[in-house]
Amino acid sequence: MLPIRSLFFNHFNYAPLLAVQSPGRINLIGEHTDYNHGFVLPAAIDKYIQVAIGKRTDGFIHLVALDLGETMIIPFENLKPHPTQWVNYIIGVVYEVIEKKNSKDALAQGFDICIQGNIPSGAGLSSSAALECAVIFALNELYALQLTKMEMALMAQQAEHYFAGVKCGLMDMFASLHGQKNKVILLDCANLAYTYYPLALNEYSIVLFDTQIKHVLASTEYNTRRIECESGLQIVQEKYPAVKTFRELTIEQVEECLASNHNSTNAKIYQRCKYVVEEIERVQLAVKDLTAGNMQAFGKKMFETHEGLSTLYEVSCPELDFLVDSVKPNKNVIGARMMGGGFGGCTINIIKKSELEAISKEMAANYLSAYQQPLAIYHTSIEAGTHLIA
Ligand code: GLA
Repeated sequence: MLPIRSLFFNHFNYAPLLAVQSPGRINLIGEHTDYNHGFVLPAAIDKYIQVAIGKRTDGFIHLVALDLGETMIIPFENLKPHPTQWVNYIIGVVYEVIEKKNSKDALAQGFDICIQGNIPSGAGLSSSAALECAVIFALNELYALQLTKMEMALMAQQAEHYFAGVKCGLMDMFASLHGQKNKVILLDCANLAYTYYPLALNEYSIVLFDTQIKHVLASTEYNTRRIECESGLQIVQEKYPAVKTFRELTIEQVEECLASNHNSTNAKIYQRCKYVVEEIERVQLAVKDLTAGNMQAFGKKMFETHEGLSTLYEVSCPELDFLVDSVKPNKNVIGARMMGGGFGGCTINIIKKSELEAISKEMAANYLSAYQQPLAIYHTSIEAGTHLIA
């Protein structure tokens, strides 16, 4: 990638005031738990979005998506969801800043922004969250808004809800902003407390296998899962009003209140809730494995998560299942599962370094012959979160 500041200069003919880099994320374990008051264990990676920004004086926002070769000019007044999705990741954040920080006057003169990145889109690595975080971080610096990283994450999440239309949890934005080199972050989504853990993989490394499947229904299904979980909780609350969130919900209560189903909707609700309760428990146990240095046990839980996501939560797809099933018998792959929202994107695998090349080669060949589709393979390292580019 060329330096973002020069690209900005080439386009606007003046030097940007600042530039920001914001990473994508992986998630070791804890999937579909963030919006259910559970735990997640993400980390920021070496794939990122960069933005460069400068101020205007005419009340317009000029957006340049360098990788797409697209430019948009948006009047600052009356910001509302735009038919072009990538635009929403930017103006959604601007809208949040104006609303929450009462900073309309400061921003009303408009700004110029150039964007580029190397996060494969639709791979489940949160390129949209990275963009939202890059923009809010840049605005925070540019207008001295004094937002904390957590405030920025929460505002970026709102932008995703109301402008992009996905009722996502906090994980992606949180991880992009809070990442630290070689550390995974346990986020308690009930109270937003978080702890960093060094990820010492020693003879293992993390590899992502990308199905290159982009499921068009992913966001609809995602929002449906959220509603199903909320419905399940409400049913339990009729009998156990003290259960306020999934954190207080026990597997016994799920069995008692949701298992005896009389129609298919309820059967689905039971499955969803069972998965979430099990996954919340699993993440806590996995963190114990991590701190004990027992990566074999940790990896086993990743396989269990995949099983739950595939059979109970039903957010996998044949290609993802194929990738996980293919590595499962291999003793040099200690853990694998689908990652992110699902219906396509990547699996995350913990593979013995010495076998990496052979396994990757074999997987690529198998995937191609099964789906006539090339497998994209990403070797990731864990890096710092959103920051200014010098
Ligand atoms: C997407 C969402 C996250 C999270 C994951 C599933 O990445 O943006 O908030 O819910 O799916 O764990």
